[in-house]
Amino acid sequence: MSVTPLSATSNPSRPAPAFASNPEVLARVEAMRARYSKADPLGRLPDVDPRRIPRHIAVIMDGNGRWAKQRGFPRIFGHRNGARALRETVEEAGRLGVEAMTFYSFSLENWRRPPEEVQALMLLCVAYCEGEREALVRDDIRFRWIGRREGLPPEVLAALDSVVEATRNCTGPTLCVAVNYGSRAELADAAKQIAHEVAAGTLKPEGVTEESIASRLYAPDLPDPDLLIRTAGELRVSNYLLWQISYAEMYVTSTLWPDFDASCLHVAIREFAGRSRRFGGLDDSDAAGPLSSGDGCA
Ligand code: FPP
Repeated sequence: MSVTPLSATSNPSRPAPAFASNPEVLARVEAMRARYSKADPLGRLPDVDPRRIPRHIAVIMDGNGRWAKQRGFPRIFGHRNGARALRETVEEAGRLGVEAMTFYSFSLENWRRPPEEVQALMLLCVAYCEGEREALVRDDIRFRWIGRREGLPPEVLAALDSVVEATRNCTGPTLCVAVNYGSRAELADAAKQIAHEVAAGTLKPEGVTEESIASRLYAPDLPDPDLLIRTAGELRVSNYLLWQISYAEMYVTSTLWPDFDASCLHVAIREFAGRSRRFGGLDDSDAAGPLSSGDGCA
């Protein structure tokens, strides 16, 4: 194999970690770079084996309201700054070789918030899509969204769909936002679709399997998240990707979402890489490190 990791050329003064010359690691880095030319996991996080970089990270962005309140501003100020943090995080994820990130942006339960906050979040979603479209295309970031279409204002649907369309051919990291999303609703929608197919005779009852359910979720082509990050210290999963996070590792930080940045992502991934993932089996002897969730990363 003749692959030279970007890091080996970009910083010759840094001694290469032992795993950096492992052919499997080089092949993994090569695959990451083939998908996204800016991927340089060994350069960005030299102490982490690229084979332990999560493919998909799900994020519950919490603490926007508290962040704004601490500064004496209305809650929407926190959401606006939260939207900014989202971009920085996904760009760094791409450089680390992560394939996708899914951000909980507006849940079905969020409709219970005061109408002015709901309205401001809808406007922010439109502004985000319009403001980011060109930059996402330029940076080769593919945009997706998951959630129920019914109930969303037409302008929000049009804005989301237009960025999906504009970035359709991007091959870098996927930035997926969950909007008007609830995991139980997603599972109910999949069950309804399966019931229709069984009633129509196109699917046999015995054909209802884990795979057939998974393939009827909103983004069946994305790998299940390996890592679920929740900010602002809350220890809940809040009806988020319940099927998909069955074997995800959880990382909770006290950092409020608008303060989350590339270095916070490094801390989360470093901890993830040290975990032993058992998937119901026995210990993976390669892994070492704490199983506890992290403190603030700032
Ligand atoms: C939770 O913080 C955050 C949200 C409900 C909204 C997150 C939305 C964004 C960051 C905007 C991005 C949107 C799109 C579609 C790109 P919180 O308000 O519950 O904070 P608190 O717990 O401190 O009150």
